[in-house]
Amino acid sequence: MLNQLTIAMPDDWHLHLRNGEVLEKVLPYTSRHFQRAIVMPNLQPPVITHQDALNYKKEICAAIPAEHSFEPLMVLYLTEQTSPADVKQGFLAGDVIAVKLYPAGATTNSDAGVKDLEKIYPVLEVMQEIGMPFLVHGEVVDKEVDIFDREAVFIDQKLIPIRAKFPSLKIVFEHITTREGVQYVQSCTENTAATITTHHLVINRNAMLVGGIQPHYYCLPVAKRELHRLALRAAATSGDQRFFLGTDSAPHLTQFKQSACGCAGIFNVANTLAILAQVFEQEQNLENLEKFTSLNGPKFYNLPVNSQSMTLTRSDQPQPLPADVATTQGEIKVFDPIMPVHWQVSATNI
Ligand code: NCD
Ligand code: ZN
Repeated sequence: MLNQLTIAMPDDWHLHLRNGEVLEKVLPYTSRHFQRAIVMPNLQPPVITHQDALNYKKEICAAIPAEHSFEPLMVLYLTEQTSPADVKQGFLAGDVIAVKLYPAGATTNSDAGVKDLEKIYPVLEVMQEIGMPFLVHGEVVDKEVDIFDREAVFIDQKLIPIRAKFPSLKIVFEHITTREGVQYVQSCTENTAATITTHHLVINRNAMLVGGIQPHYYCLPVAKRELHRLALRAAATSGDQRFFLGTDSAPHLTQFKQSACGCAGIFNVANTLAILAQVFEQEQNLENLEKFTSLNGPKFYNLPVNSQSMTLTRSDQPQPLPADVATTQGEIKVFDPIMPVHWQVSATNI
């Protein structure tokens, strides 16, 4: 059995870092294991303009530990008022890498998101022209659509029409959670890709709902039934260049998750690489881990593969779960994958 593996340093193509103290506390977990990360813009208030992105990037850079070299990749939060000229300027200046669609009301801090997709067509037109990726939270928000069906309905009602209207727009279907999501991306050419989270490879909806309600397994899109998890695992471990890692690590203080209206998000970045190695080993595809974590993403985003590397080592004994993150406001719980994890990151040359 393989018990050591060296891969190019990973990138995280979907990450929530927040700001203030939480940013300072969680960022080192990312910067020690990832060279770059796409930082999601759903702050309060959101990161909407080129200037907002520059300000947020400055705040992130000030929090990077001196011993780490990490590059935050900035994303704009799309609103119906977003200016195509501002988006273009941010992209051409190299300050902004992509634009993110949050359907209004779909998830945490998405109130300022988009209600009417046609209103954003002028922005998409410009993005298509300049080759700027469009990142999509792919869930409809209609009250009458069951929450477990929202991703599949989004594909039919929204994604297929957008793809038809903008055939050469680069689209990332973020954090896919369904077999339909996998099949849709597989049916497209290479200008459609998808991120897959660590937790959706490990848990199905039972983790959230069996034995009492388990708020630390609640995230959006919600984990689905087992057949979907299996489809995600097959896609992630296949090596197909259209699938790459976006952890969607989304820290929330425990008191806000363990509440009568608990918020969505799982903080998984502290143990993501170890868990992924375990998953790829279970799928007998460890040789494809590097594609998922380090090669396919840069290819889609036209960026170089990181020259730094990471070594993962397997022990006979399962590794302990990393400690929760302490802040002055409370703790942030680390994702428990509910399975033994024998792998750990043993070295990086950052
Ligand atoms: C994210 C968050 O907390 O910002 N939550 C989540 O469950 N994934 C928002 C998101 O990506 O939908
Ligand atoms: Zn997210």
